[in-house]
Amino acid sequence: MSEPRKILVTSALPYANGSIHLGHMLEYIQTDMWVRFQKHRGNQCIYVCADDAHGSAIMLRAEKEGLTPEQLIANVQAEHSADFAEFLVDFDNFHSTHSEENRELSSQIYLKLRDAGHIAQRSITQYFDPEKKMFLADRFIKGTCPKCGTPDQYGDNCEKCGATYAPTDLKDPKSAISGATPVLKDSQHFFFKLPDFQQMLQAWTRSGTLQDAVANKIAEWLDAGLQQWDISRDAPYFGFEIPGEPGKYFYVWLDAPIGYMASFKNLCARRPDLDFDAFWAKDSTAELYHFIGKDIVNFHALFWPAMLEGAGLRKPTGINVHGYLTVNGQKMSKSRGTFVKARTYLDHLSPEYLRYYYAAKLGRGVDDLDLNLEDFVQKVNSDLVGKVVNIASRCAGFIQKGNAGVLVAGNAAPELTDAFLAAAPSICDAYEARDFARAMREIMGLADRANAWIADKAPWSLNKQEGKHDEVQAICALGINLFRQLVIFLKPVLPLLAADAEAFLNVAPLTWNDHTTLLSNHQLNEFKPLMTRIDPVKVQAMTDASKEDLTASATDTGETAPAGNGELAKDPLSPEIEFDAFAAVDLRVALILKAEAVEGADKLLRLTLDIGDEQRNVFSGIKSAYPDPAKLEGRLTMMIANLKPRKMRFGISEGMVMAAGPGGEEIYLLSPDSGAKPGQRIK
Ligand code: MSP
Ligand code: ZN
Repeated sequence: MSEPRKILVTSALPYANGSIHLGHMLEYIQTDMWVRFQKHRGNQCIYVCADDAHGSAIMLRAEKEGLTPEQLIANVQAEHSADFAEFLVDFDNFHSTHSEENRELSSQIYLKLRDAGHIAQRSITQYFDPEKKMFLADRFIKGTCPKCGTPDQYGDNCEKCGATYAPTDLKDPKSAISGATPVLKDSQHFFFKLPDFQQMLQAWTRSGTLQDAVANKIAEWLDAGLQQWDISRDAPYFGFEIPGEPGKYFYVWLDAPIGYMASFKNLCARRPDLDFDAFWAKDSTAELYHFIGKDIVNFHALFWPAMLEGAGLRKPTGINVHGYLTVNGQKMSKSRGTFVKARTYLDHLSPEYLRYYYAAKLGRGVDDLDLNLEDFVQKVNSDLVGKVVNIASRCAGFIQKGNAGVLVAGNAAPELTDAFLAAAPSICDAYEARDFARAMREIMGLADRANAWIADKAPWSLNKQEGKHDEVQAICALGINLFRQLVIFLKPVLPLLAADAEAFLNVAPLTWNDHTTLLSNHQLNEFKPLMTRIDPVKVQAMTDASKEDLTASATDTGETAPAGNGELAKDPLSPEIEFDAFAAVDLRVALILKAEAVEGADKLLRLTLDIGDEQRNVFSGIKSAYPDPAKLEGRLTMMIANLKPRKMRFGISEGMVMAAGPGGEEIYLLSPDSGAKPGQRIK
């Protein structure tokens, strides 16, 4: 046996401003399967991740929710960790980029880069929100498209005509945060001199670290010439202050990949067997792999290796890029119920169904992967239940009843066990190459052979004949052994099935090398059904619930769907909903008994509402339009009375009042016609 490899693996750090969905899960499940495979093979493989907690999107979202950013990211981290654990994604550590380890490492790396002359400084001019007193990223500026005149377009491109432009080209620009008209302002920024690394990157990206399609894309960027990268942001910003530069913060993407190191460092503190430098020093012989989606390739295959090189650290062994998830052939859609949160899936279905389906479809390329929900049900039921588990359920009963649960010695079909043994290296190579689809195809091919052999021997018929006891036992003993082999091959994908099978087989946790042995003269435990079929009704319930998630979040004050780049989402939430979803909303006339500003919150008013049979306390982000809140007292408005109460920094909000408008001074509270009474329901 060769020496075990030392491997450090990461998945991209999910933003701490939104829930994990099935698109994210494609990445975390893929990575987890690969890591489990490495561990199964006896390699030392460490899997770290963290929440990506910095940036203005998170700062603004926390503010809207009446939380500190620290509270928001703590809540989200708890939610993310629970989702991952239930999907059987087994991180060795799940940390946060807002951590002391990350602050230290980010400073150290920055200072190394600065001292080596790789940091430049110059003044740039940007839009500034005079009300909010902050510089505005392109996505926080809205205005009229300079090309086609469509109003309400974001600062970098027009959704109507597709034109791209600078925010300063927009007509009638407004801050998407406060509604104020932005002004141009200069400020000093810090830049990472990426062009210093052009040659290194040219060689590194062609040295087998990237899939071909990715290397080709990068070559286009390299040919076009690299630009300096702006790595600083001005206060207010949620992140780390740049050492020696008060009021200047690291841009979130500077400290995010360093978060990989920080998570590992945090783990090292608990694991004396791990040596930080053995994995990160320039001369490290450990392997380092980052699994990422295709949208963040530039950060991982250009900026990150350049930063590492500039700071005198090792570079990744490989960047493993995957495509995007589509559902039923289309982009995940909130209105179709195919934008499924991890939690919503888990409320209805077992995690292993999805793990297997992703494995069955994941190749080593960067193509998008389609989760076709009908195919999902069909494939999981036919492969896992119909083929794999079926072998055990067909054979277990005869051994239990006919031989007190003891597997007899011997091998009833050496040609079959030889075929299983012969297939192992190829399955192993497929896993190693992340060609899970090929691994699954080969494993299911073996399952087909096992089933065909058992069907041919038909122990259920032999069992009815005199004098066939030994033959039946020999057939079923081999059946169970073949099942055990399949479980060994599938264990990285189906760890729960493997654990249940180990309990039934009465064996210690199986490892890859166990596939070379057979159980003989071995006592089994009682057989319990190992996996049930997917009921399509559950899939329907999941998509229905996803549509409901949407109605819930659309009525939530300040809820913004996370966008891929960590800034605020572009798409307003305006999907079609079913009548039932509408009818589920309890809309009522409410009388404002009391309205007052909330100390410590810029935007919130506390409203005491009379809704007929009770009084409600509601926080509403409408202060900018109602600077004198007492004027609202005595007036009628409309509220959603059955919104789940929300705990905010200032108290519990028990519903939501309805208002329209872009924000700032232009927020208009809705009112019924005169004559309406508090508590009347809106039909
Ligand atoms: N925070 C950054 C990553 C920083 S890594 C130093 C980020 N976060 S994310 O939450 O938007 O995405 C996390 C990972 O999930 C990324 O690799 C991204 O490509 C992947 N996916 C997000 N949506 C996805 C799909 N719909 N389909 C497949 N992968 C998806 O980017
Ligand atoms: Zn336009």
